[in-house]
Amino acid sequence: MINLILFGPPGSGKGTQAAKLVEKYHLLHISTGDLFRYEMGNDTPLGKKAKSYIEKGELVPDEVTVGMLRNKVEANPDAAGFIFDGFPRTIPQAEALDELMAEKGSRISALLMLDVPDEELVKRLLERGKTSGRKDDTDESIIRNRIEVYKSETAPVFDYYQAKDKAEKVYGLGSIEEIFERLCNRIDALVA
Ligand code: C5P
Ligand code: MG
Repeated sequence: MINLILFGPPGSGKGTQAAKLVEKYHLLHISTGDLFRYEMGNDTPLGKKAKSYIEKGELVPDEVTVGMLRNKVEANPDAAGFIFDGFPRTIPQAEALDELMAEKGSRISALLMLDVPDEELVKRLLERGKTSGRKDDTDESIIRNRIEVYKSETAPVFDYYQAKDKAEKVYGLGSIEEIFERLCNRIDALVA
């Protein structure tokens, strides 16, 4: 089983690359951001709870996010492996994920971080905001807050997996195809 964490700041290309990776490696893509947006779109209790945080560019409390992620993983017992996109975003989320994988008799294979400079992130997100329908992509101060939250709360997750010798940085500028190839090279090295 290959279980990957596709990691990086907002706008680094996680969703774009995950979509291509699942096709090639037949893994199940789990984007916690997409799951939240689905819940918000259906105005569920979970969606209502998440909305206030997401619209400010803050993180939804760990217990809410971890519970939602666990449900999604447990609903797919036959998956050949997972690509986690946008999760874990805090150390407690990383610990919960490791525990969940261990319960399944599995483990995280690697964390691949897409490395992209801040100004490029802001540019990409504002551009995406023209068509994404996401409120958190249209306001530059919310975008900058998301990047700050990434640095303070999420970046430590890289160190957490680096201490386990599982974290790698991948240069995140270039064409979608070029970046995809860089990721595939790392993944192929894992299974070789
Ligand atoms: O991953 P994505 O950028 O789509 O997430 C959108 C928003 O969802 C984040 O800015 C954050 O408010 C919320 N989120 C979260 N915890 C996660 C994933 C997403 O709070 N693990
Ligand atoms: Mg995304």
